Amino acid sequence: MKVKGKIVVCLRGSNGRVDKGQQAALAGAVGMILANDVLTGNEILADAHVIPTAHISYTDGLAVFKYINTTKSPMAYMTRAKTQLDTKPAPFMAAFSSKGPNTITPEILKPDITAPGVSVIAAYTQATGPTGQKFDKRRVLFNSESGTSMSCPHISGIAGLLKTTHPDWSPSAIKSAIMTTARTRDNDVQPILNASYQKATPFSYGAGHVWPNRAMDPGLVYDLTSNDYLNFLCSLGYNGTQILMFSDGPYKCPKSYSLLNFNYPSITVPSLSGSITVTRTVRNVGSPGTYKALIHRPKGISILVKPNVLTFSMVGEEKTFEVTLKVKKAASTDYVFGTLIWTDGKHQVRSPIVVKAAQR
Ligand SMILES: *[C@@H]1O[C@H](CO)[C@@H](O)[C@H](O)[C@H]1NC(C)=O
Ligand SMILES: *[C@@H]1O[C@H](CO)[C@@H](O)[C@H](O)[C@H]1NC(C)=O
Ligand SMILES: *[C@@H]1O[C@H](CO)[C@@H](O)[C@H](O)[C@H]1NC(C)=O
Repeated sequence: MKVKGKIVVCLRGSNGRVDKGQQAALAGAVGMILANDVLTGNEILADAHVIPTAHISYTDGLAVFKYINTTKSPMAYMTRAKTQLDTKPAPFMAAFSSKGPNTITPEILKPDITAPGVSVIAAYTQATGPTGQKFDKRRVLFNSESGTSMSCPHISGIAGLLKTTHPDWSPSAIKSAIMTTARTRDNDVQPILNASYQKATPFSYGAGHVWPNRAMDPGLVYDLTSNDYLNFLCSLGYNGTQILMFSDGPYKCPKSYSLLNFNYPSITVPSLSGSITVTRTVRNVGSPGTYKALIHRPKGISILVKPNVLTFSMVGEEKTFEVTLKVKKAASTDYVFGTLIWTDGKHQVRSPIVVKAAQR
């Protein structure tokens, strides 16, 4: 038999990663090398394979295929698994992570944030085996799992911790603190990469990778009230009956309301022609201080912040500012990315700016 007693090399894609091992095992294989395809790049997952398996990157896979193709009797052996700590670069975006733009309300950047979600060890059900496959009769108390279902609890837990340290913060204030303190650099102090080791964008990571300690002390927050959310529904065209499902009583939609002014901790203008001015309001949740605006302009877009200095003399004080975005002649009609940072020297209140110039 072709496979019996051998280590088989499988290319990732089409069917499940663990299923490939199961099929190899059924054919009598003793081990598997699972090589990524180009789409999955450098993303390696710790799966509960049913036969000894080494999961390798796309680049390493090319070397293995080349070796097999050019060698008469290729040989392979496997050593015991070892734990590697402090690998670089980290974090980087998982290939499966969902991406923007937001197709329903393009004025709101999605995703908001990223958190650990690849090969996270957690308590596990006894109802299925660690692969979740029917053929898997194993039962484990802990398992390594990947996906939004693993990163979401990180953010939920951090939101819970923030609510404990700041019981008076609203859900939006907590979200703002998490977003504006996130980091966009990895442990090489380079921009966060995607699974092909290309520079990722806010469409992959939103405001960035969550940084819990900094989220406790964000300096300023972009808050939202229930009425702001009702106005959001108004802007989507919800009628009175529909809005009543979300409000305590009848709510009168404002005559005109621009979603661009929704007090979100990011600024997204999906179809900019000429120039536009958006407003935001920040609340001081730190000590009194003076914040200056720093701008990293998206390519081909000019940005003016007015005022560009905000002075807070007490906790809880709110200040409103305007951001004017203007298309330069040479702007491309692809999405471009920039940043607005309010800093008092101690805090960095960072918001992604996402702009797409309208077709001319
Ligand atoms: C190895 O050979 C296979 C089958 O002929 C081919 O599809 C593949 O591109 C080759 N890979 C390399 C790296 O040479
Ligand atoms: C990484 O980004 C580059 C450039 O945008 C893109 O071509 C590539 O497909 C991305 N890789 C993954 C795994 O998302
Ligand atoms: C509101 O919208 C819903 C869903 O489209 C519709 O069924 C309902 O008749 C509308 N109500 C009013 C008062 O327009």
